[in-house]
Amino acid sequence: MTDIKKGLAGVTVDETAVSKVNPETNSLLYRGYPVQELAATQSFEAVAYLLWNGELPDAAQLADLRRTERAHRALADDVRAAIDLLPTSAHPMDEVRTAVSVIGARETAGISNVMDAVGTPEENLERSIRLWAQLPAVVAYGQRRRRGAELVEPRDDLDYAANFLWMTFGEEADEVVVDAFNRSMILYAEHSFNASTFTARVIASTLSDLYSAVVGAIGALKGPLHGGANEAVLHVFTEIGSAENVGLWLDTALAEKRKIMGFGHRVYKRGDSRVPTMKAALDTLVAHYDRPDVAALYDALESQFVERKGIYPNLDYPSGPAYDLMGFDTLTFTPLFVAARVTGWTAHIREQQASNALIRPLSAYVGADERHIDGYVPDADTLDAQERPEEAAG
Ligand code: COA
Repeated sequence: MTDIKKGLAGVTVDETAVSKVNPETNSLLYRGYPVQELAATQSFEAVAYLLWNGELPDAAQLADLRRTERAHRALADDVRAAIDLLPTSAHPMDEVRTAVSVIGARETAGISNVMDAVGTPEENLERSIRLWAQLPAVVAYGQRRRRGAELVEPRDDLDYAANFLWMTFGEEADEVVVDAFNRSMILYAEHSFNASTFTARVIASTLSDLYSAVVGAIGALKGPLHGGANEAVLHVFTEIGSAENVGLWLDTALAEKRKIMGFGHRVYKRGDSRVPTMKAALDTLVAHYDRPDVAALYDALESQFVERKGIYPNLDYPSGPAYDLMGFDTLTFTPLFVAARVTGWTAHIREQQASNALIRPLSAYVGADERHIDGYVPDADTLDAQERPEEAAG
């Protein structure tokens, strides 16, 4: 009997130097640095540089990355036109997926030999930076379009996080909000061989281009068992209403065997290392917006669910309500995850390209036994090798 690892659970498929998830010590390292240290001390731009290059940037390297990022912030006309073709009722993840496709088609236009699509390591680093720089405009425009608001042009005098909030809301965000947003981007940036990163690596392993790999990763991230959970957490909060309803709501949800979004993890079984940092950021937002009701609901659901099931929150649990307090639409939450994770995805795509092996697992066949079409008589040329033993041997 073949030993099948359903969902690839517990299977180590390759090496990576990008990040290390250690469920035993409940830690997550990006290129060796604990993620909570990075979130407390670095800008998202510096962490992006770290993921791509393996080291934190010095002042000149950071200034250089910031210059490039600022030069590509504006929403390109072709991307805007493609988004405008979509109904405003389209899910924003579909908008982002479409936008990356358009950007990729433009950036790789003129490559007529499929063998050249993969690009050089240098080209792919430049593509990664440009793609990362363009995504905030896509996400911000999507939310504004759904609200019937005009596009807001980027501001050159603001860092990545502050400019992202500016383009989304058309006003300068308070420092505490920028700080919480910057931390969330860092926490979402990378997480080893999760489903979307693995998807990106599978696509990269065929020597397809970086944009195709990112488009596939966005599709994987959309699902509620992965990135879609941050959106789903807010739906749960809305359904429950307030802290005093948690007990009754949980009775029903558990009786119906519902999965409670924002809890549980394939790798971490005793808590997600990113949660305390994001919860602290959420606490600053709760104080800033004076919304103790949000903290009360958060605490009530967490404590009662952990007590009853022993399953702990993951990063999506604090980030959902944090993004809600900042003013993002619930449907925009997972696109924010894309804007952050594109750094990790592209670091992995380049790592895969640098040491490639086509990813092609096996399967155990459980379908019908071999059978044949009535009346079909094979001609000699189409007989397979098994049926021509003398040739196979030769
Ligand atoms: N709510 C209720 N029960 C949960 C649960 C949750 N969020 N997460 C896990 N469980 C239960 C399962 O029902 C299962 O119980 P059973 O053994 O009685 O059938 C057990 O815990 C193991 O869960 P399973 O889904 O097999 O674990 P997994 O490692 O495959 O799943 C997740 C991990 C993330 C898919 C799962 O925890 C989940 O669906 N969480 C909600 C979605 C989410 O927040 N995703 C974001 C992840 S970062």
